[in-house]
Amino acid sequence: MEKKIVSVAIDGPAAAGKSTVAKIVAKDLDFTYIDTGAMYRAFTYYVIKKGVDPKDEAASCSLIPEVDIVLEKDGKVFVNGEDVTRPIREPLVSGNVSYIASYKEIRLALVDLQRKMAGTKSVVMDGRDIGTYVLPNAEVKIYQIASVETRAQRRYDENVSKGIPTSYEDVVADLKKRDYIDSHRAFAPLKPAEDSVQLDTSDMTVQEVVDAVLKTIEEKTGVKPLCR
Ligand code: DC
Repeated sequence: MEKKIVSVAIDGPAAAGKSTVAKIVAKDLDFTYIDTGAMYRAFTYYVIKKGVDPKDEAASCSLIPEVDIVLEKDGKVFVNGEDVTRPIREPLVSGNVSYIASYKEIRLALVDLQRKMAGTKSVVMDGRDIGTYVLPNAEVKIYQIASVETRAQRRYDENVSKGIPTSYEDVVADLKKRDYIDSHRAFAPLKPAEDSVQLDTSDMTVQEVVDAVLKTIEEKTGVKPLCR
């Protein structure tokens, strides 16, 4: 019997814990995890590396034909063969990625790649517009939120553990700025899909969120982890 292809979309604001949860859920179900934010970050890294101002839409978009982004299974991210897994998490990229992600031409190019990735296999894809725009027919749509204080603390702790220098105040300012730009852009802004299940994870552990997402997936598709 042919295996059914299932798409799980997890959207929500920056640092709501989407990628942590999406990675575990994908592993539990043997689905492929796709971090679309990493793709916008990788593009931003390349724009900065080329000496282009990320606020310059025309110059940034002119780089589309020369950017080749690869997401590997182990979570590594490559741009034109360069391993950018670490630098795409640094403040210079985080502080500019929302400008790049607001340009329609760049979004269309990356969305095309994302749809191709989901066309042939079951995926858990996280981002901002997965349920509303990239995969509108996804069987499961989760909209994951948390208070700005919770999100800032999580992101700050993550940066400290990775040795990325930031202050808590800078993290709060960056999250607020990105939330604003991401939800106010004209094309495919951050917003919950009408048919999404909303999860406020402020007072939940990672395992509680994973369990809630797995339960929703099972209810909607019948798919469940093989051994838990
Ligand atoms: O999830 P993240 O913080 O790594 O995402 C980085 C930025 O990319 C975020 O500020 C908004 C943008 N983004 C987007 O616009 N659409 C997506 N599907 C994923 C991310």
